Amino acid sequence: MRSSANQKNAEAVSPYLPARGTVEKTVAVTEKERFFSIALETPMDHTPGQFVMVGLPGYGEAPISISSPPSDEPRIELCVRAAGNLTRALHRLNPGDTVWIRGPFGKGFPAREMEGKDIIFIAGGIGLAPMRSLIKTVIGRKKAFGSLTLLYGVKSPEELLFKDELGIWRENGMDVEITVDRPHPSWKGNVGVVTTLIGAREVDETKTVAVIVGPPVMYKYVILSLGNKKLKGTDIYLSLERRMRCGLGKCGHCQIQSVYACQEGPVFRLSDIRHLKEAI
Ligand SMILES: Cc1cc2nc3c(=O)[nH]c(=O)nc-3n(C[C@H](O)[C@H](O)[C@H](O)COP(=O)(O)OP(=O)(O)OC[C@H]3O[C@@H](n4cnc5c(N)ncnc54)[C@H](O)[C@@H]3O)c2cc1C
Ligand code: FES
Repeated sequence: MRSSANQKNAEAVSPYLPARGTVEKTVAVTEKERFFSIALETPMDHTPGQFVMVGLPGYGEAPISISSPPSDEPRIELCVRAAGNLTRALHRLNPGDTVWIRGPFGKGFPAREMEGKDIIFIAGGIGLAPMRSLIKTVIGRKKAFGSLTLLYGVKSPEELLFKDELGIWRENGMDVEITVDRPHPSWKGNVGVVTTLIGAREVDETKTVAVIVGPPVMYKYVILSLGNKKLKGTDIYLSLERRMRCGLGKCGHCQIQSVYACQEGPVFRLSDIRHLKEAI
């Protein structure tokens, strides 16, 4: 439970004003992705699936999902892919350096609504970063949920994120299945896109929810496969990435028709966005 002092701190911070964060630890997890532990001045009151705007003077700001579960500690964890100017500059930071953080923003995953259900997490590539916050939350209270399954697809074994944690999640009773897109000399496991892991699986559509986070191309095929398992749109949650600037519903950069992804998303129920042409 979050203490009322922490809640007060979170409420006192203006969403327009960045707060100072200090890099405590940074580790290369793959060639393209770095993990960061950022010390904050006050704890961040976030839900899994929410994001922060991470800024560096002279480079601008970028939305980055919070990868750690909610906590009373004044600290968040991020996993950042070097994609352009700002994210490459983040990769050059060392422990003790300052980053500027606004947020948390958007709507996350409603973990409470998933209680009592079997959960299938379907992650592609860096999609495991936001999903890790929810997975760690759920595993922390695993008695409240039914069976837990993670289906995780990456292009090649070198791109696997959180390798040590995948083993820990297995030890905690999660069924973790991994696939790589193409054969690789070092890989003895499944080969093929992530939908190949859904095909043979038995899913009880009366008590299962699915959570999908991955690259845009993945969504259409995963949703089709889940439809074949008779899963309803109300039981499918997905996180959509859009270009974002303000994070506050003011600039319109993240707009999908009438919906502002930074406010109403990035996490949506499939049934709430299915009718929006450009959403998926
Ligand atoms: C809600 C949300 C959560 C995100 N979470 C993460 C995360 O946890 N880790 C992470 O590494 N990245 C995440 N991203 C993507 C990240 O915001 C972009 O990679 C970042 O903005 C690139 O900034 P840049 O200045 O380094 O690159 P830029 O110079 O702005 O762009 C470099 C390249 O990245 C592409 N790009 C820029 N923004 C996006 C975007 N929003 N989606 C897809 N491609 C983009 C550009 O088209 C270009 O090809 C998230 C994006 C959103 C909207
Ligand atoms: S990012 Fe500005 S309105 Fe959503």
